[in-house]
Amino acid sequence: MDGTVIEEKRSPYEVIGGAEGVRRLVDAFYDVMDSNPDYIALREMHEPDLGPTRDSLTGFFTVWLGGPREWIEKRGGFCIMSRHAKMNVTKETSRQWMDAMRDAIRQVGVEPELAEKMDNALGQLAEAMAWRGKAR
Ligand code: HEM
Repeated sequence: MDGTVIEEKRSPYEVIGGAEGVRRLVDAFYDVMDSNPDYIALREMHEPDLGPTRDSLTGFFTVWLGGPREWIEKRGGFCIMSRHAKMNVTKETSRQWMDAMRDAIRQVGVEPELAEKMDNALGQLAEAMAWRGKAR
């Protein structure tokens, strides 16, 4: 033994607080989108009932963050870019999505290192969705 401490690496899913943590973030995100007039254009793209969308984003984040994979297996695969390709995501609504997500991440107090990683990764995805919208 040389005294080296072997740190057990926790998945982002564990860091965020498992099923409860993911749900808390998703609920905060759609609550922000639903109540802040800055995000009205984004809100109007969504169905009046956000319930099924809340469940979907919870399932997606669970898998994306390294948690249980049931949601994606039940759906028989899922491509986030394809799902958004026909939604006419603009630069403006893409920015609203990311701003609302940042508000939610801050509100629920995601651990800072993970918060930064999520900000970068989701920011790139959201931007790419807008680029596809513009290209058509
Ligand atoms: C990283 C960025 C994003 C992620 C991870 C994400 C995730 C999701 C997920 C998981 C769904 C549910 C899909 C399904 O059940 O089939 C969804 C639906 C949707 N998303 Fe996104 N999304 C992102 C960005 C955006 C952006 C930028 C917009 C608009 C500007 C947007 C608008 C929508 C809309 C309109 C729906 C349909 C929901 C409804 O009908 O109520 N998303 N998104």
